[in-house]
Amino acid sequence: MEKPNSITPPRGKLGVLLPGMGAVATTFMAGVELVRQKKAVPVGSLTQLGTIRLGKRTDGRSPKIKDFVKLAKLEDLVFGGWDIFPESSYEAAAKAGVLDAHHLAAVKQFLSKIKPLPAAFDREYVKLLDGKNVKKGKSKYDIALQIKDDIAKFKKKHGCSRIVMLWCGSTEVFMTPHEVHQTAESFEKAMKESHPAVAPSMLYAWAAITSGIAYGNGAPNLTVDIPAMQELAQKHKVAIGGKDFKTGQTLIKTVLAPAFKARMLGLNGWFSTNILGNRDGEVLEDPGSFKTKEESKLGALEFILQPHLYPELYKKIHHKVRINYYPPRGDNKEGWDNIDIFGWLGYPMQIKVDFLCRDSILAAPIVLDLVLFLDLAQRAGMRGIQEWLSFYFKSPMTAPQLYPEHDLFIQLMKLKNTLRWMQGEDLITHLGQEYYD
Ligand SMILES: NC(=O)c1ccc[n+]([C@@H]2O[C@H](COP(=O)([O-])OP(=O)(O)OC[C@H]3O[C@@H](n4cnc5c(N)ncnc54)[C@H](O)[C@@H]3O)[C@@H](O)[C@H]2O)c1
Repeated sequence: MEKPNSITPPRGKLGVLLPGMGAVATTFMAGVELVRQKKAVPVGSLTQLGTIRLGKRTDGRSPKIKDFVKLAKLEDLVFGGWDIFPESSYEAAAKAGVLDAHHLAAVKQFLSKIKPLPAAFDREYVKLLDGKNVKKGKSKYDIALQIKDDIAKFKKKHGCSRIVMLWCGSTEVFMTPHEVHQTAESFEKAMKESHPAVAPSMLYAWAAITSGIAYGNGAPNLTVDIPAMQELAQKHKVAIGGKDFKTGQTLIKTVLAPAFKARMLGLNGWFSTNILGNRDGEVLEDPGSFKTKEESKLGALEFILQPHLYPELYKKIHHKVRINYYPPRGDNKEGWDNIDIFGWLGYPMQIKVDFLCRDSILAAPIVLDLVLFLDLAQRAGMRGIQEWLSFYFKSPMTAPQLYPEHDLFIQLMKLKNTLRWMQGEDLITHLGQEYYD
């Protein structure tokens, strides 16, 4: 793709539409509002706190990312979305139990005004959920058209110049690409026939893309990872990205695994288990939804360690991922990793990681960054899969002929080099010979 000649400045309001307004979505919106009220710092957000080095190390140029590329301002974000539960985002946030009472009180007025629209939902795709705030229609196509209508009305009501849609809804059952996903035409026909290969998340994505709106996928659902959506994204000049926010355990995995490979240390096994008690954990109790998450979590090691290139080190890895729903923990997940590595002469060693994390606190800044970067990509005319946003995803989408890059630091370099490229700055190669000439 050619470097964008010009990037349209972010004038006016940016609408943020979220299918799924549960723990992650409400923590994100509350956090943006608390930052706007100057009551919090946007910790964890690269777009808000990160800098980017330009030119040589001796040049001393390291602007903030948000000043280097023109990103939408937090003041200009307006929020909306859909959920199967009709409660306001204040009630949903209170129920999610992520935020302390003083934070909730500070955003009560703001969140109380955000009420989810009726959702496109079908229990066949998320077995352990049931709610009444659901759209009715003659066919899946009819429901997708209702979502398009919701988008148009939201845009008008809030006077948005642009909109980004980011899936923060539940994990759907495991699905593999089907022949109806192959072309935009076959997909549209399948929606009209209410074909089972069309999941609710796909209806939102189709509505967004065909309305010229960027779509990001925070869950491991198949959704836009199919040729039909990619064809539509090209046609409608829309940026898309996914899948599954890289927050806790996979973040750590994609930091540690590259270190082992860099030092040519071997790996016998990696056992990852989680205990969590939020609604996400409840949904993942269903084997269909768990399988979708498991696939998303398993990929990283294989792609980072490349066993076909290093058979002595990584040929036989026992990689297991478990998720256990344990209500007392709420959103405060515990991610345990037992890692069996081996060193010189094959001597075994072990590493144990116990990450007592907070799921939605880790996910919220990712939602913010993705919204702002997808809007940037859209204004820069970058369409289709945005691989430079792999940094944020557990299971990054790529062009069909490519394997995904999972190493967090390669992903970060790719992201920052993409920003430099967009702005016509030299890419940073880390060669550094010029300092010694
Ligand atoms: N928090 C993390 O660390 C993290 C990391 C990676 C991915 N995710 C994914 O992000 C998503 C959201 O997580 P969460 O903790 O907020 O879960 P949550 O259960 O609190 O919220 C999800 C919301 O989506 C709604 N929903 C489900 N299907 C819907 C549909 N078809 N249309 C509209 N709304 C729908 C549910 O009613 C629920 O309110 C999940 O898929 C989760 O797997 C979370």
